Amino acid sequence: FTGVRGHASRAAFVTPPYQKLVEKLERVRKILPNEKLTLAEKVLYAHLTNPEESLSGVSASQIRGSLYLKLNPDRVAMQDASAQMALLQFMTCGLDRTLIPSSIHCDHLIVGHRGANSDIPDSIANNKEIFDFLQSAAKKYGIQFWGPGSGIIHQIVLENYAAPGGMMLGTDSHTPNAGGLCLFIVSVGADAVDAMTNTPWELKAPKVIGVHLKGAMSGWATPKDLILHLAGRLTVRGGTGHIIEYFGPGVESLSCTGMATVCNMGAEVGATTSLFPYTESMKRYLEATHRAEVANAAANVHQQHNYLAADAGAKYDEIVEVNLSELTPSFNGPFTPDLNTPLEKFSKAIETNNWPKKVSAGLIGSCTNSSYQDMSSVVDVVEQATKAGLKPQVPFLVTPGSEQIRATIERDGITKRLEDAGAVVLANACGPCIGMWKRDDTVSTEEPNAILTSFNRNFRSRNDGNPSTMNFLTSPVIVAAKIFSSDLAFDPTRDVLKTPDGKPFKFTPPTNIELPPSGFTSGDTSYIPSLNPEPQPETEVTIDPKSTRLEALKPFDTYKGGEMDNLKVAIKVKGKCTTDHISAAGKWLKYKGHLSNICNNTLIGAVNAATGEVNVAYDNGESMSIPELMWRWNSKGQPWLVVAEHNYGEGSAREHAALQPRALNGRIILTKSFARIHETNLKKQGILPLTFANEADYDKIDAEDKVSTRGITRLLDGALEEPITLIVTKQDGSIVEIPCKHTMSKDQVEFFKAGSALNLIREKARV
Ligand code: F3S
Repeated sequence: FTGVRGHASRAAFVTPPYQKLVEKLERVRKILPNEKLTLAEKVLYAHLTNPEESLSGVSASQIRGSLYLKLNPDRVAMQDASAQMALLQFMTCGLDRTLIPSSIHCDHLIVGHRGANSDIPDSIANNKEIFDFLQSAAKKYGIQFWGPGSGIIHQIVLENYAAPGGMMLGTDSHTPNAGGLCLFIVSVGADAVDAMTNTPWELKAPKVIGVHLKGAMSGWATPKDLILHLAGRLTVRGGTGHIIEYFGPGVESLSCTGMATVCNMGAEVGATTSLFPYTESMKRYLEATHRAEVANAAANVHQQHNYLAADAGAKYDEIVEVNLSELTPSFNGPFTPDLNTPLEKFSKAIETNNWPKKVSAGLIGSCTNSSYQDMSSVVDVVEQATKAGLKPQVPFLVTPGSEQIRATIERDGITKRLEDAGAVVLANACGPCIGMWKRDDTVSTEEPNAILTSFNRNFRSRNDGNPSTMNFLTSPVIVAAKIFSSDLAFDPTRDVLKTPDGKPFKFTPPTNIELPPSGFTSGDTSYIPSLNPEPQPETEVTIDPKSTRLEALKPFDTYKGGEMDNLKVAIKVKGKCTTDHISAAGKWLKYKGHLSNICNNTLIGAVNAATGEVNVAYDNGESMSIPELMWRWNSKGQPWLVVAEHNYGEGSAREHAALQPRALNGRIILTKSFARIHETNLKKQGILPLTFANEADYDKIDAEDKVSTRGITRLLDGALEEPITLIVTKQDGSIVEIPCKHTMSKDQVEFFKAGSALNLIREKARV
């Protein structure tokens, strides 16, 4: 950041308004005297729109897990796939600029194939219409635009915008990454538009899980192993409705970027966000990334007000103990990030589960694990093997998280050493992490194959679109070591390999360098947008009506009032139904800005509970794909609902998973439970999320049953506590009543009445 855009002004621009924040917190302390606050509560309450309005009259025990808070985040970041819809929505609000600082990051649409030099120009050519749209909208509304090649949203946020004790929203599920720099940062879908219009952001006060860290890692253990271990213990639902807050002496032993890895993958357990208290390593990271002023301001506010750590005696809803000294490498997967197998048990698990014996590729980097520390330790491992004459046995792909990381590891010779060993360095973008991976090696879609990645998510088809690819998540150093044997069971901490001249070779535990000794270099500074771009209202943002990739939005219809009386169950889903099942990524990413076209992927990953088939629905005995049925019913004006099991919509913040059903005339989603972001997204789009009051009632309702509601009229009148009952007419004419629960707040009822949150914002903007 030397030169053109200047450090000093940037630091001033990203330093949170600490004075204002601690004043608000003081007001909260007057309302809740004697209350010992967790760090998460402090930062949340410091961002309340109006503490007295939110908290007066409630006791501390009535807040977590029940009270809706209205908050004012400091900033919003959007990735290119979700930014399209956010901007299309924003454009309908009638404002001429975003009302809080916002940024767009072009990272998801770039395919990983032969390497950055050819992949970036190819992706720019293939996505020109989208990038032009995003860039022109950014210019028009005063949004910072980080173009293709600049890096992955979470890494850029960490390097540039994250500041301890601030609050941000981001339209990507791994947004909480910057909790590793003590930023309260939450992944949202439709809420991004509220924030850009300065409508207070509403969040049900999460409960707080305290993770007490003691000891320090050594040997092969890395921060990745901490979160892999925790994901195994907490499971993919364990963090739902919770913030994970780390505390204890072990915290000080972690690097800032290591803590970011841990927070990044808090998304895998469904946590609202994850947060570390302010540490010396955060200070070092801020200084190394040209934000010493932010570090000084943070240190001051912390010293004077203890703002950046929990109060002594703060109470957590649950405490999880982890001794870092006992952590060992492990693997999570396949197909779910919470299936944790420690390295020492992995070889047995391969046999027991009949997992593939061979590794087919190793991938490191992405937003989760591409820090300088990660890359320095990987190169240490790789060089141990190459110096002994060994070569990688499978393709080895490296994704730097940002231009700053890319340029710094290139300058320091790390890239050359990796490439000399056979690694392919991909663009600074998501690539294989989000299914944008063009694999040249021939793997069958019938036969399982195993890949090892240091990414964060491993749902079926996530990386290469192949449902037979099993992704085992592990640390970068374990990936780097294991690629020197094609045997999946190879344990680099114990096993011996044979060098070409027949000598035994054994890895020694890797070393690492926390931060670049000569500082970070910015690389290509043309990627860096100006700090506070003025809106340029004369900029034309064009959407070609014939485009297959962009489509102007039409507002959804308002709710006509009364009860719903003629719904039909479109599909009853069995088992896991993540946002990847509801709105697949990969090749569908290119339709993110075209609602009608992307509707063709709605629920194509869902398993039909009656038949076990994937993406098959029935209409009077006629079978068809799920989107086909939804389009058919939509054209007949037939409203419908989906029935599903637990944690429906887990995974990402993908707003399309709510937008698409709504566009196709879905009105209710009935489940055993929801993932938080998805449930909020549904409410924002005017869909009513309901859960079974008795889980066993899932068995009483089937596809094509007719449904009417009892209780919505009362809900519209503000009777939030009253239940809603579904009256289900079975196909044999019998009638079943299913009592349901909901979590609609007063404001969310207004979204429902208006047809969507956006309709409401537009109405308010007109007044
Ligand atoms: Fe998300 Fe992976 Fe990109 S987690 S931001 S898709 S690198």
